[in-house]
Amino acid sequence: MLAFRNYVKANLKNFFRRISTSARLSSEDLYVHRDSDDNNANTPFEFTEANLMRIAAVIQNYPEGAQRAALGACLDIVQRQIGWIPISAMHKVAEILGMPRMRVYEWATFYTMNKRRFRGKYNVKVCVTTPCMLRGSDIILDAVEQATCCSVGSVSTDGMFGVDTVECQGACVNAPVIVVDDDYYEDVNVCDVHNIIQTLRSGGIAAAGPQNGRYASEPIYGLTTLLECPPPPGFGLQAALCNK
Ligand code: FES
Repeated sequence: MLAFRNYVKANLKNFFRRISTSARLSSEDLYVHRDSDDNNANTPFEFTEANLMRIAAVIQNYPEGAQRAALGACLDIVQRQIGWIPISAMHKVAEILGMPRMRVYEWATFYTMNKRRFRGKYNVKVCVTTPCMLRGSDIILDAVEQATCCSVGSVSTDGMFGVDTVECQGACVNAPVIVVDDDYYEDVNVCDVHNIIQTLRSGGIAAAGPQNGRYASEPIYGLTTLLECPPPPGFGLQAALCNK
């Protein structure tokens, strides 16, 4: 018994299930608002007339009393108007939709598509989740930082680019993926990254989508299934059921 006790004591930690925890985020940017000179409740923000009309049209899509369903669209309109979403704009949206400010904060801080600070004229987001990581997102991220002269979480000195890492963008079959504002650039390699950034820097429009010649997410080296014409209707039916 004593020997067993000594064994337990010596190996105590092995008798308890280990608890895994995620690594602490090195940035609180996604979750927490801190007042700053350019982002506080008094930061000037007004919707343009055109955008007020857009918001009115969006709200009409929902039944009376459910106008808060237009929240995501309203924040998107803010972002398209000035490039990011200051807290004063969140208050304006809350006022228009007649909902508590906290509900707007919750939405704005949950989705990474909401930019709560200026992220450059072009916000370059590099997917670093497992499928993209296995396809070289680390190398792609280095290339993006090099091409934009900007490190993750910051904005280039000329204000052209802001670089962020993001989780899965839903295009894993075309990994690795980078997203610039609304456009997905898929199957990218280092050379593609430099070409895309250079095109944007010179005021051009880089062709979005797969960069390796694929049309969508079909196999790059040709079909691997459905190689023959499918059998006609009635294939495999019992003879007794045919020609009735
Ligand atoms: Fe990158 Fe899904 S993991 S798009």
